[in-house]
Amino acid sequence: MVKSYSKNANHNMRRPVVKEEVVRYMRHHLAQNKGHLEVLESFAKTENIPIIPHETVAYFRFLMQTLKPKKILEIGTAIGFSALLMAEYAPEAEIVTIDRNPEMIGFAKENFAKYDTRQQIRLVEGDAAEVLADLEAGFDFVFMDSAKSKYIVFLPEILERLEVGGVVVLDDIFQGGDIAKPIEEVRRGQRTIYRGLHKLFDATLDNPSLTATLVPLGDGLLMLRKNSEQVTLLD
Ligand SMILES: C[S@@+](CC[C@H](N)C(=O)[O-])C[C@H]1O[C@@H](n2cnc3c(N)ncnc32)[C@H](O)[C@@H]1O
Repeated sequence: MVKSYSKNANHNMRRPVVKEEVVRYMRHHLAQNKGHLEVLESFAKTENIPIIPHETVAYFRFLMQTLKPKKILEIGTAIGFSALLMAEYAPEAEIVTIDRNPEMIGFAKENFAKYDTRQQIRLVEGDAAEVLADLEAGFDFVFMDSAKSKYIVFLPEILERLEVGGVVVLDDIFQGGDIAKPIEEVRRGQRTIYRGLHKLFDATLDNPSLTATLVPLGDGLLMLRKNSEQVTLLD
């Protein structure tokens, strides 16, 4: 039914970096989604659409309710699941979400029309590489969940539009554990992503203008807090 994603789309989600039984425990015991979020989560599973895994869902509920962001930017909408999750748990937030895949945009539009009852979400259609430049500033929470090799390319534009004290969460940064291996042991087709992620780590992990943490949920989250108005990304 869905053309964009094949059986193998979620490759790294099936190679969790935490022990399998711990992941299973988290996925089973953390509160399950209800209503439309449950419907969308199960649709994504059936159709192999890579949305955030359940342990990350629980973490996002916690983050939204604790940080109470007012203005959220997401890169990578897919069917709109994570945007609707953030809308549910940050009811005061305005959310801008970007995607470039026409098939996913179609699903997202349908889902926002049905389930974004407070009209919090604005969908921007296009490649983030092009549309980011025209986007306003003033975001206090950014979720990057798009092509991983491009995170380092988009980050300067993101940081320019982020308030001091704001948080950026970048998903799927462990490449199923490959990131910790020497490049020769990484499959050739995965090396562009590997290089992009290493550039991202070099630029951020030990940067005094940012506070960085790596969280081993799903295929890993990099979280950054912007500490000062000017952030120089390290080489
Ligand atoms: C992992 S899915 C997003 C899942 C969604 N955040 C969720 O958890 O419900 C990644 C999405 O990013 C989009 N994407 C990838 N690179 C992009 C880019 N450069 N600009 C815009 N969208 C992009 C893809 O089309 C895809 O729909």
